[in-house]
Amino acid sequence: MQTQEPQTSRRQHSEWLRQQLQASADLARLRTSQPMLDAVIDEIAGRMIRVGDQWLADFASCNYLGFDLDPEIMGAIPAYVAQWGTHPSWSRLLGSPALYGQIEEELAHLLGAPDVLALPTITHIHMSVIPVLAGSGTILVDRRAHKTIYDGCSVAKSHGATVIRYPHDDLEALEELLASSPAHPRMICTDGINSMTGNGAPLAELARLARKYDALLYVDDAHGFGVIGERSADETSPYGSRGNSIVRFCGESYDNIVLVAGCSKAYSSLLAFIACTTSIKNFLKVTAPPYLYSGPSPVASLATVLAGLEVNERRGDAIRADLARKTRRVLDALDECGVATPNESGFPIIEIALADSDDIDDVGRFLFSRGIYVTLAAYPLVPR
Ligand SMILES: Cc1ncc(COP(=O)(O)O)c(C=O)c1O
Repeated sequence: MQTQEPQTSRRQHSEWLRQQLQASADLARLRTSQPMLDAVIDEIAGRMIRVGDQWLADFASCNYLGFDLDPEIMGAIPAYVAQWGTHPSWSRLLGSPALYGQIEEELAHLLGAPDVLALPTITHIHMSVIPVLAGSGTILVDRRAHKTIYDGCSVAKSHGATVIRYPHDDLEALEELLASSPAHPRMICTDGINSMTGNGAPLAELARLARKYDALLYVDDAHGFGVIGERSADETSPYGSRGNSIVRFCGESYDNIVLVAGCSKAYSSLLAFIACTTSIKNFLKVTAPPYLYSGPSPVASLATVLAGLEVNERRGDAIRADLARKTRRVLDALDECGVATPNESGFPIIEIALADSDDIDDVGRFLFSRGIYVTLAAYPLVPR
């Protein structure tokens, strides 16, 4: 057997890394030149953060409800850790602390969903659940769906599924594809609240198509859960009530819908979930690798989810009314300055596209020098 010289193999490896980096060249350049990327946050004081000597107002974090700094929620952790330790190190298939059952039950009740299965992150869910639900069928995926959905679709493709993109929110194109794609099972994958534009998917129409063509609508509402919810006559904001996600916001049932969302944004905790029928949940318990093999969420996160659910019931709508008011203020200020944003919803994600993407480094430095911390979305975080 011929073996390669270590030096040759090292050279080949660094050439391979160089080629791989080409696709992320813009981001790699920015990461080293830009103080607002890959930053070390030295200190926080409420919504102000310190990077080196610079204090900045944080517009980049997704702690929409402020639960990360809520004294009641922070104060709930020690009692749970005293009872359960820091981390349940069984995979969920082996066993789960009773806290999981409680969380899944409370989430199902809040969402009005038939059942809920909790796993550590949405990324885990997409990578494992999309492939097993799609099998060797067809996945129709919205062109602007989150990258982690695409990654799940890539795994599904390697397991025999056919993956087809449809233009963003284009219902006509989607219906044509549904009518002409023979392989079952069929899935439609989309963001709920889009993670860049801040706008909601046309959920009612997507659900109608899913039901008409016997497809499963798979919705990632990472940014809607905790923020938007069921509509009612006495709601305190245009976000609706209770933060129980886009399906309820749109007045839809869960027929043909699998809702995926997480707690790492509005609930400031490391946990995610799938709202689905009990038969899908039981199927995933023996087929979705993170349930079988992965370490679960730490107890502190299970504690903050439970405390967060309680705070949400008592104070959530008042917090959301404040969030809606602040978002409106930013949108109105941008409007007054003549700055365009695709945000038509008033939901708290505000994307501002640069006329010339090469300006991103200068814009980032300008904002940083003025004490404003934002998400700089360079390619490949967003399409070119
Ligand atoms: C729409 C969407 N889905 C999934 C994720 C990833 O979530 P998690 O951290 O739970 O894997 C994000 C995070 O930015 C997101 O915006």
